[in-house]
Amino acid sequence: MKKKSLANLEVYKSKTKTYEEFVKAEDHPRKIEKFTLPYIKNKIVLDVGCGVGKYAKIFGPSSKKYFALDVSEEQLKLAKKNEGNVKKVKFIHSSAEKIPLSDKSVDVVFSSWVISVIKGFRRKKKALQEIDRVLKESGKIFVVEGDSKGEFEEMRGHLKRTEYHNNWLRKQGFKERKIKTYFKFKNMKKAKEIFNEFWGKSISNKIKSEIIKQEIIIFTKTK
Ligand SMILES: C[S@@+](CC[C@H](N)C(=O)[O-])C[C@H]1O[C@@H](n2cnc3c(N)ncnc32)[C@H](O)[C@@H]1O
Repeated sequence: MKKKSLANLEVYKSKTKTYEEFVKAEDHPRKIEKFTLPYIKNKIVLDVGCGVGKYAKIFGPSSKKYFALDVSEEQLKLAKKNEGNVKKVKFIHSSAEKIPLSDKSVDVVFSSWVISVIKGFRRKKKALQEIDRVLKESGKIFVVEGDSKGEFEEMRGHLKRTEYHNNWLRKQGFKERKIKTYFKFKNMKKAKEIFNEFWGKSISNKIKSEIIKQEIIIFTKTK
């Protein structure tokens, strides 16, 4: 049996509803919105690994055109439902490693919690190469990832893995901005239920409150 993890792509097919509940508990979209929105206004944007579409909903209306790409059809189905028919948003079912857009056709690439989910540095590198290919000269990339500090990473025991991945991103020339945030679930029972589904009992048993602190990093780079 595969280890329970959000890096297991099956999760995005079989647990879409639970994943959506998890996403709704996140505070960080609002913090990321504040930082990123000025760069997105009236721009052609590509959201790599859009998931259930939380950023398509936030950024789509302000953009000139918003391409929301994901490898999971199930996530895209929910994203389409959530986005509320914003005409500027176009959904793309594809992998980040083969983006069906022309060279130098987008102003901004945004990707939250996806590069860390792609397994293997060869595949991560391929995704970054594709991002670079579709980006216009002087275009911007925003890659949001968890910091290796913070309660959320500590509970899941991902400190080393996260630091390794983030150091790799630093070596690819990304600058960074750290943000403190949290998940707020309806109650502790709900938080435990969701964590149990994704990471198993030993991790969900560590939950002591409906609020779980998280630290994130927005990695940025200009082409
Ligand atoms: C942790 S979720 C993040 C979703 C969303 N960006 C967010 O912040 O809520 C990871 C997403 O990346 C997608 N994904 C994983 N590997 C991918 C790949 N190679 N290409 C495109 N999407 C991928 C998954 O289907 C999933 O929707």
